[in-house]
Amino acid sequence: MLHNNGVKNMSSKLSQRREDIVSTYRSRRQYLHWLFAPPRFESFFFEAKDRTLGVHKNKMTMTPPIMNIDAAKDQFLKEFGESYGYPDAPKNIDDIRATEFKRLDGSVYLDHAGATLYSELQMEAIFKDLTSTVYGNPHSQSSSSLATSDIIEDARHQVLKLCNASPKEYKCIFTAGATAALKLVGEAFPWSDQSTFMYTVENHNSVLGIREYALNKGASALAVDFKEAADSSSINLVCHPKQNRSEAGVLDKQPTGEEYSLFAFPSECNFSGLRFNLDLINIIKEDSEKFSGNWMILLDAAKGCSTDPPNLSAYKADFVVMSFYKLFGYPTGLGALIVRNEAAKLLKKTYFSGGTVAASIADIDFVKRREGIEESFEDGTISFLNIASIHHGFNILNTLTLLSISRHTSSLAKYTRNMLLALKHANGQEACKIYGLEYLKAAYSGLGPVVSFNLKRADGSWVGPREVEKLASLSGIQLRTGCFCNPGACSKHLGLSHADLLSNIEAGHVCWDDLDILHGKPTGAVRVSFGYMSTFEDAWRFLNLIVSSFIKLPTSILRSRFIQSATEGDRTTTGHHLTSIVVYPIKSCAGFKVDSWPLSSTGLLYDREWLLKSMNGEVLTQKKVPEMNFIGTNIDLETGVLHVESPRCKEKLQIELKSNLSVAVEEINVHAQRYEVMGYEEKIDTWFSNAVGRPCYLLRSSSRNCTLFNRSKNTSICRDIETRLNFVNEAQLLLISEESVSDLNHRLNSGKEGSVGLLVEVDAMRFRPNLVISGDAPYAEDSWSGLKIGKNHFMSLGGCNRCQMINLSYQAGEVERSNEPLATLAAYRRAKGKILFGILLRYEIGEEISSWLQVGQKVYPEI
Ligand SMILES: Cc1ncc(COP(=O)(O)O)c(C=O)c1O
Repeated sequence: MLHNNGVKNMSSKLSQRREDIVSTYRSRRQYLHWLFAPPRFESFFFEAKDRTLGVHKNKMTMTPPIMNIDAAKDQFLKEFGESYGYPDAPKNIDDIRATEFKRLDGSVYLDHAGATLYSELQMEAIFKDLTSTVYGNPHSQSSSSLATSDIIEDARHQVLKLCNASPKEYKCIFTAGATAALKLVGEAFPWSDQSTFMYTVENHNSVLGIREYALNKGASALAVDFKEAADSSSINLVCHPKQNRSEAGVLDKQPTGEEYSLFAFPSECNFSGLRFNLDLINIIKEDSEKFSGNWMILLDAAKGCSTDPPNLSAYKADFVVMSFYKLFGYPTGLGALIVRNEAAKLLKKTYFSGGTVAASIADIDFVKRREGIEESFEDGTISFLNIASIHHGFNILNTLTLLSISRHTSSLAKYTRNMLLALKHANGQEACKIYGLEYLKAAYSGLGPVVSFNLKRADGSWVGPREVEKLASLSGIQLRTGCFCNPGACSKHLGLSHADLLSNIEAGHVCWDDLDILHGKPTGAVRVSFGYMSTFEDAWRFLNLIVSSFIKLPTSILRSRFIQSATEGDRTTTGHHLTSIVVYPIKSCAGFKVDSWPLSSTGLLYDREWLLKSMNGEVLTQKKVPEMNFIGTNIDLETGVLHVESPRCKEKLQIELKSNLSVAVEEINVHAQRYEVMGYEEKIDTWFSNAVGRPCYLLRSSSRNCTLFNRSKNTSICRDIETRLNFVNEAQLLLISEESVSDLNHRLNSGKEGSVGLLVEVDAMRFRPNLVISGDAPYAEDSWSGLKIGKNHFMSLGGCNRCQMINLSYQAGEVERSNEPLATLAAYRRAKGKILFGILLRYEIGEEISSWLQVGQKVYPEI
């Protein structure tokens, strides 16, 4: 039945599938009108059989801070002991981790959907192989060349075997990766204006990109989705609006029977882990003649292949793509296109090259291509050393067996899902939304070892995924956040409409940025994914982080977990005063302390008035170039000179504050502000290039002009949108309280009493303040609306959001990185996804033109 919104109802018994086709896809303007049976679950892999996925809501109680890891592991093994840990393999999971992944050394890696890890023994075997065998270019006839050809043939067979593909029916073409294989299909597919490129909404960008080839050749593109029908015995196919780029595609032409259309879907969605029912392949193929044209199937197995490769003898897709680093971590830059012989004949490749050509004549239009399928698609010399090394990866899969890998990884994913689903805040509010579960009964056959979710606070508001990622990273846990290059799955699961997406883009949101919550909704999700070497302990550490950092527990538990303020009951309120003034003339370089300093319309005079830019236009900061901290600066107001020194440069640099800048004015954008800037002569740029160890140039903000750039849309980047700023990130000035720093130090070291050498001590300068004050309780500054120092008034713009930069320390000319003090701050100073320490100030410039600040001056807070 055709519903108003283009939803088509599909229902039937599989055995009657052919008879149940009630209409066909006759013309471009007709909707797909097409029935098929409810999913059948015959896959030989564990997950596909188990449709309940072991998700038993509330069956387990989740209180990791109280339950110890041993008790939790016992509970886990009771439920998943048969599937977990490779009990029948030569080495169990604990031995594998201890002997082959020593480099993980306490860190938790949970991004196997992004890239799984190679084993250290695998790399040793590859090294031994490559250092003991002479592999020559396979295009020659020498014995070293034949050795290479043999290993390549062997590798092709292993790839086909992985997917149970008969070498008589399928060929394996090596490519630079799954994306390159998809591009090859898109480029060479016989598109016509009668073709349709149909694809599920849940698809990786690398699949969506094929749309460009289709539309450019006059074909239509059509995104589709699956929904369970109300009676739950059938599935609806939802067609999104058809896309066309030319008139040709929308004309009602009579089909000739020679047109080809392509349907693309992933075997496992890399966003949610939902596995598509491969019956889709047979349904579409078997009924292909009922539609206009012939339908070919492209299966993106890049994600699914590592635990559940498709069985091509039962589900005869025409094209299957994969990347090998997703299977066993190494090598990168190598993938495969498994192509059905019949389908390969239809592909039309334009380019010819060494490798694909049998003969060509240089000065006339003559080329004779090679005839073998692999030879005619593999351009140039294939990556033969990488191909030689996949053999060692397949050894691991064969030893452990894919069935055991699937069972092992899904036991961890199910456990993690169960635990997350059971999480509740003290007020009863559910804390976690897992994506994909509600779709299990539609065209999907189960879930892979991926858990995609977002967290909610006790008040029901969303926790930003980037906040979860940052805290995880501080605890040594590596996971992934965002949309994972799968925009369709992301908007489907997060419930983002086109209007939401457009307004997010309008607000400046792009992949990988920190804008993780916009208009109250997450812009992406958190994803943890398991690999063959993942352990229970990995899952446990991750869950423990979630509970301890994001779940509001009853206060009795909280009290025992978190340290009371160090200075509580010991507060000095002898009056506030200014203890330090620090000026940083060049953004991200060292500053200098002064006893007194003038204020200007941009805060402290000359503060962050200069910056360094790399030759590719990037503003240099300590985040990328920590060594900038070793560039010392000083300004002598009397002589009007900026002095700069660096341990890497013999000569000290002197820059006249009034010097005529030699390079013409240009405009640059920094933190959503447009600045008019001027440059210096080459000699100065060369000095800075030596000082930072990379080519760069010095720019100075021109005092004449500074305009706001797109500020209203980027308030999350720049806090002070009212005043003139130099090259600061958020606001003119940063104030730090000494009492807040000593409270932090106490927390950093509590529990370490007596352990000499392990104490961590940060001083106020770690936070790059402009003003340091003393004389009140820790964090009293948080509640100030402003303050007065002498006659000067400053308005508070709120807490300063801290990042990893405060974890860098500088000892004896070396940069040291740790996860402190940010990890400790994260435990007690988080608000709305930010880790706050210190407050940002704006100088409210008064009548007096030359105002000075003086160390020792009294500070008058305004509440
Ligand atoms: C489902 C899916 N398809 C395609 C790709 C692209 O693979 P590659 O980047 O290895 O070419 C990925 C990569 O994450 C993926 O997960």
